[in-house]
Amino acid sequence: MAVAETGMSSLEAELPQRSARLILRRLRASDLADFQAYRQDPQVGLYQGWQAQSDAQALAFLQEMASAPLLQPGAWCQLGLAEAGSDRLIGDIGMCLAADSASVEIGFSLHAARQGQGLAAEGVGALIALLWACSPAAEVRGITDARNLGSIRLLERLGFARVDSQAAVFRGEACVEHHYRLLRSAQVAR
Ligand SMILES: CC(C)(COP(=O)(O)OP(=O)(O)OC[C@H]1O[C@@H](n2cnc3c(N)ncnc32)[C@H](O)[C@@H]1OP(=O)(O)O)[C@@H](O)C(=O)NCCC(=O)NCCS
Repeated sequence: MAVAETGMSSLEAELPQRSARLILRRLRASDLADFQAYRQDPQVGLYQGWQAQSDAQALAFLQEMASAPLLQPGAWCQLGLAEAGSDRLIGDIGMCLAADSASVEIGFSLHAARQGQGLAAEGVGALIALLWACSPAAEVRGITDARNLGSIRLLERLGFARVDSQAAVFRGEACVEHHYRLLRSAQVAR
């Protein structure tokens, strides 16, 4: 069903979205240097599903994400987090609406120098508010390696509850993944 038929606004129409210190916006080719500055940092990528890319690969990704359809069931898409003053990219957030549109999984990355300032919480919180407004999903999900304390703290700060822990294999190594969930109904009740 088209978004217009549901009465929901489209995520595309809500972008760029400004918060106190950030702009949540489309990624673009001109972000390449800033994107690589954190995507090539081994610490930022330590527990991520993605690997560092060459400049050519990263440029192709940014070009694709500049106009990729947002919230297509079953497909990941990525938005940028930029500083409000300079519009320079400092991180990104990925999202994937489930094939049945019942949930959205998210993932996030922030430049190491910009961590510890509440910016990830501000940006991810802004995206979640848009997901409630622009998708039919009843819950937002986050999956994180049990060793990824920064990610766990962020999810819990945003009100996510841990609903499961599963043994997994990440880059050939046994690990545990925590599954987190934030319910739309819990948000509305607050
Ligand atoms: C996960 C990640 C985005 C979290 O970033 P972050 O900056 O720690 O998260 P927040 O925005 O919630 O910032 C919280 C910290 O800022 C501090 N802070 C400082 N000023 C603040 C403010 N004005 N408002 C809120 N918090 C503030 C908080 O006290 C908190 O510190 P603490 O973690 O020591 O308790 C970051 O660690 C990261 O990019 N990791 C690598 C990528 C990754 O693994 N992603 C997850 C996989 S899905």
